[in-house]
Amino acid sequence: MRVACVKDITTVREAVAQARARGETVGLVPTMGALHEGHLSLVRRARQENGFLVVSIFVNPTQFGPHEDLETYPRNLERDLELCGQAGVDLVFAPTPETMYPDPYSTWVEVEGLTAGLCGRSRPGHFRGVCTVVAKLFNICQPDQAYFGEKDAQQLAVVQRMTRDLNFPIRIVPCPTVREADGLAMSSRNQRLTPEGRAQAPVLYRALEMGRRLVEAGERRVEVLKQAMTAILAEAPLAELDYLEVVRADDLAPVDLVAGECLIAVAARFGDVRLIDNVRVSA
Ligand code: PAJ
Repeated sequence: MRVACVKDITTVREAVAQARARGETVGLVPTMGALHEGHLSLVRRARQENGFLVVSIFVNPTQFGPHEDLETYPRNLERDLELCGQAGVDLVFAPTPETMYPDPYSTWVEVEGLTAGLCGRSRPGHFRGVCTVVAKLFNICQPDQAYFGEKDAQQLAVVQRMTRDLNFPIRIVPCPTVREADGLAMSSRNQRLTPEGRAQAPVLYRALEMGRRLVEAGERRVEVLKQAMTAILAEAPLAELDYLEVVRADDLAPVDLVAGECLIAVAARFGDVRLIDNVRVSA
């Protein structure tokens, strides 16, 4: 089944208003397309929980830095529409950059603090772009519920904070990370890995798993966790580490000792492909 693909904001608003008039709840899954099983797990969850389901597909230029992979980011709208149709999506919103950012464009949403570390440090402006586009998608689609993956743990925390701070009447639904059989977290960027990069990329999850096992065995010292994980990352000569951090799950503040709910988060480059992953641990 092919799904309706809508490019303009008025048509989305009308379709959502009609669904509401029928008494249906509205779900939104924001994506940048090149859909994989990770995205589809969000879509299936949202399908179960809503009468009317919108998936947005928009490679958001404002969340890419000047030397990042905006040009080479994978795009496959036809296939994405096919997958959305099969998953029972009611409407795909796939706007152009001009629709989302009319010229001149002047308004930005910035979440402070939570965006300072982790990916925010190595990708300045990234979360400003994410928050701005997500706030716009919330205003355009007016969902009751919006679905975000735990794979992008900092993005999830930042979106939750923005939703609360700006009083969006929207429930943010976190969804677990979907992985390949060898542990690699699914990502649209995985398809840009070289065969060697793809073979070495599961090292990220192996390192995180080592960290988690050590915490489960009673280790609390982050230095010790990092040493053990760094030794595993060293097994992959192509991996260029960006960060390896243990942070509190709620405010993403770095810790020296694991206490309460924490995230172990890693980012590394394999050639020109930057991958991130994380696991949650509790002590
Ligand atoms: P994108 O990378 O396409 O991801 C869309 C959603 O799918 C995000 O919520 C992301 O966390 C989730 N996702 C991706 N891979 C996943 C996996 N392996 N398991 C579970 N969930 C996964 O994230 C973005 O797009 C953009 O920043 C966006 C929020 C759309 C704003 O432009």
